[in-house]
Amino acid sequence: MINLNPDSPTRYDRLTMTLHWLTALLVIGLFASAQVWEQLAKGTPLRKELQALHISCGILLAVIVIARLLWRLSAGRRLPPANRGVMNLMAKTAHVALYVLLLSQIVLGFVFRWAQAEPFNFFGLFDVPTLITFDKSLKSVFGGLHEQVAWVIVILAGLHAVMALVHHYVLRDNTLRRMLPHGSN
Ligand code: HEM
Ligand code: HEM
Repeated sequence: MINLNPDSPTRYDRLTMTLHWLTALLVIGLFASAQVWEQLAKGTPLRKELQALHISCGILLAVIVIARLLWRLSAGRRLPPANRGVMNLMAKTAHVALYVLLLSQIVLGFVFRWAQAEPFNFFGLFDVPTLITFDKSLKSVFGGLHEQVAWVIVILAGLHAVMALVHHYVLRDNTLRRMLPHGSN
């Protein structure tokens, strides 16, 4: 771990942490919900409810990811890199890839639902307007891409989590702690 300037903050700010952990929780929940409903027979109420929940949580994820990017690009706290050289490059590439994949997955989720032409609402509170209409034949194209991107995100986020644990338990540095809300600053 690179030595930090003693005057510089040792943790990310609260909003960055909150948005990071909400993103992680939602991504895991979204992936898990699809694995569960795929075990259920088509047309069952529980399957439909899980899909509606997935879509509402997907809309929430869209808001959180956009808020996170806006915060990061504006006032969000920046910390010195946790790695040097090639490891730094790999970590940065993985973080950018995760943002790009999340944004792509959000777009795919929306266009998938529009192509399905089925109810599209946020926890029953309001309907999402149809901004683009697609031919129904595109349903399987968007669905296939959405599923593949889901696997790529889950694998990359898994590796990312393993690396965070390697920093913590093997390298014994501050990398994971600075994303955890203990103590001050
Ligand atoms: C689906 C799950 C996850 C996603 C999509 C995700 C995404 C990200 C992204 C994009 C960053 C870069 C932040 C930035 O610089 O803007 C980041 C940072 C970080 N994540 Fe995750 N993350 C996930 C799960 C986890 C888990 C489970 C852990 C811990 C076990 C973790 C630990 C960290 C740490 C410690 C950082 C800060 C790294 C640094 O300071 O260089 N993340 N995460
Ligand atoms: C990282 C976030 C996400 C992951 C990991 C994820 C994962 C999945 C998976 C694995 C499926 C099943 C695909 C299939 O069998 O064809 C699915 C279906 C779906 N997802 Fe997502 N998804 C995410 C975000 C979103 C978002 C943001 C939306 C937009 C609201 C969305 C909307 C949908 C829709 C409409 C379906 C089809 C549901 C149905 O068949 O009725 N997803 N998702």
